[in-house]
Amino acid sequence: MIKNDLFLKALKGETVSRPPVWMMRQAGRFLPEFRALREKYDFFTRCRTPELASEITVQPYRRFGMDAAIIFSDILVVPQAMNINFEMRPNVGPWLENPIRSLKDVEQVIVPEINETLGYVMDAIKLAKEKLNNEVPLIGFAGSPWTILCYCVQGQGSKTFDKAKEFCFTQPIAAHTLLQKITDTTIAYLKEKVKAGVDAVQIFDSWGGMLSPVDYQEFSWKYINQIIEALKDDAPVIAFGKGCWFALEKMANSNVSALGVDWTITPKMARKLIGNKITLQGNLDPTRLLSPPKEIKKLVAKMIDDFGKDKYIVNLGHGILPYTPLDNAKAFIEAVQEYKN
Ligand code: CP3
Repeated sequence: MIKNDLFLKALKGETVSRPPVWMMRQAGRFLPEFRALREKYDFFTRCRTPELASEITVQPYRRFGMDAAIIFSDILVVPQAMNINFEMRPNVGPWLENPIRSLKDVEQVIVPEINETLGYVMDAIKLAKEKLNNEVPLIGFAGSPWTILCYCVQGQGSKTFDKAKEFCFTQPIAAHTLLQKITDTTIAYLKEKVKAGVDAVQIFDSWGGMLSPVDYQEFSWKYINQIIEALKDDAPVIAFGKGCWFALEKMANSNVSALGVDWTITPKMARKLIGNKITLQGNLDPTRLLSPPKEIKKLVAKMIDDFGKDKYIVNLGHGILPYTPLDNAKAFIEAVQEYKN
């Protein structure tokens, strides 16, 4: 039994004394203890070394006492296991020497045996669970197939992911073949994560908002929904689609446990679109954590009032910014811990 089960209760839609809180990308660059490890080990070494990954996972929890931890890793470890050789370049970010641009390239991509290729993630999960000592739940995650395709085809980060979209629109058979391979790998991967001990999973569709509502259904949601259907009896699934407010109504018509929203939609509008069945997660603009702590506390209290304390998980609308002052992150978490309605 997990001592603090606010997060799991919110995912089930049960009544809580206050909503749970965690922050996307909390295991990362805004923490000095993370930056200290970064001096010594490169990014994928940190991901691949269970002792380091589990340590980074518990760092934010030790400092702030959030209601959930998220396993430290990256969405790109999945394509790496599929023989797509991503690097993390300083000052560039994800980088692929030979991006995928044809059906022939897609045919080279494998659907790997998970424990052979990603066993290090499972070991990190087991160690993180030991360190968390059943105090709070542990979240596992994966990128959405569309978001992974974006990096595989573009070859690096982008403001438009134009090459990725062009690939989908001009070579739809190749695109769907790749999306299905990523989906199959992701399903097997998340099932292993649950077996290794994660209590819930989140799918990050960071670039879903690049697509039109019609294209979103065809190239993104269809595959996310396959993952939800495959995982629904294993663990609660949270789907976060950045910029995907236009799809909320359809997303709610699924077996997802919670939907993540960014700050471009009001809590009331999100509730209106999804009905009262599904839990919502979000949605403070991460840049708002640069406001003074007093202001942050006011914004959080208002946000909880607007979403309602039940069927709600307090979070940011996207990952925490690397230069967020610690006191401001603390104010965000404290505002939730102090919340009384
Ligand atoms: O949430 C957490 O704290 C868990 C860890 C986590 C990381 N990446 C660690 C990381 C999670 C959930 C991710 C997901 C991820 N990775 C996404 C989806 C979420 C989002 O923010 O949209 C995406 C798009 C990626 C791909 C990726 N990895 C990018 C774009 C970058 C940033 C590159 C840069 O230099 O700005 C990364 C690197 C990365 N992943 C870092 C961390 C802590 C920073 C690398 C470092 O340590 O220097």
